[in-house]
Amino acid sequence: MNSRPLSPSPSPWSRVDWRALSGLRARFLDESAGISDYWSQESDLDSYDLTFGQRIAWKWMHVLEELALIGWEPPPIRVLDWGCGSGVAGRVFSERFAGTTFSTLSVWDRSSLAIRFAERRASERFPGLLVEAGIPPSEPFTLLLSHVLTELDEVQTEELVALSRRAEAVVCVEPGTYGASRRLIHFREALRGDFQVVAPCCHQAACPMLEKNNAPHWCHHFAWPPAEVFTDSDWAKFATFMGIDLRSLPVSFLVLDRRDNIQRLGGMTRLIGRARLYKPHALILGCEAQGLTEPRVSKRLHPELFKKLRKNETPPWVRWVHEDGQMKEIHEILESSILAMNLHPG
Ligand SMILES: C[S@@+](CC[C@H](N)C(=O)[O-])C[C@H]1O[C@@H](n2cnc3c(N)ncnc32)[C@H](O)[C@@H]1O
Repeated sequence: MNSRPLSPSPSPWSRVDWRALSGLRARFLDESAGISDYWSQESDLDSYDLTFGQRIAWKWMHVLEELALIGWEPPPIRVLDWGCGSGVAGRVFSERFAGTTFSTLSVWDRSSLAIRFAERRASERFPGLLVEAGIPPSEPFTLLLSHVLTELDEVQTEELVALSRRAEAVVCVEPGTYGASRRLIHFREALRGDFQVVAPCCHQAACPMLEKNNAPHWCHHFAWPPAEVFTDSDWAKFATFMGIDLRSLPVSFLVLDRRDNIQRLGGMTRLIGRARLYKPHALILGCEAQGLTEPRVSKRLHPELFKKLRKNETPPWVRWVHEDGQMKEIHEILESSILAMNLHPG
């Protein structure tokens, strides 16, 4: 019997609308994205989902990996992805927790096109999950916020704070830029009286970044894409076309939870960003209950941590003792082996 060779199915990248992507990127960069709804057709959301959305998915995976490290899981209630766009946050969250801790996902956006897209993609991907459009009117939920704070004006931010107060837990993942981090810090300030601050902070106090002399700093960390991305020609094209460094995935995040019995990171220090490297030592910014600190980590005395800092593998949390700007003892380095495995070598 003659059989025709099967033609390979076209790569999803063949669907990418590059013009739409550069329009979106321009809005995100000049911070005009909040002004009006920019999803004009479904292909905009599809192109975003494959590219910018995928990069955001990697950030969410990184954050969920960190949360697994400290044993955090969401409460067993409905999840609401607010400002869902193509629905990346809800899908990554569902990949990890749907069916085990929750079974209903709500999606909401100012764009009805985005709501429909996110709803459909989540239903296709998770047939057992109940996916609904809209904000649940009365029942409790876990609120997911992703790359949306910078698009809100003051009034909208206040409305979002009010909505967040209705949540049982809030997981917010934003770009690791100065502006986005500062917005997130103010969001934390507005809500820390209502919730336990789970991560990245090790304390419940006012964010020390708000102190005047800490104004140059911002709370950011680095996620990593999977290593295959660096040898993929489509991602190489995306990087060139958008002027994006694929290796850099800065992220700011915040996890709040109302439950009393959740694990806290008391006594630990959250490491921020990347170290400043010198030949005999590194300086790394750490956030702890007493405020921000930047102790000197000696290559000779603390080779394990120094090596990680030199390789840009900043562990999320450490338990250390420092005095007069010098690292004295490192008792614990809390990091995920999965995160370390995903690290790009270059
Ligand atoms: C950069 S996109 C992020 C989408 C998605 N959360 C993600 O992480 O990929 C920002 C989203 O927020 C939505 N948005 C902006 N202002 C909003 C508002 N006031 N209410 C609801 N959604 C809003 C936009 O329509 C857009 O879908």
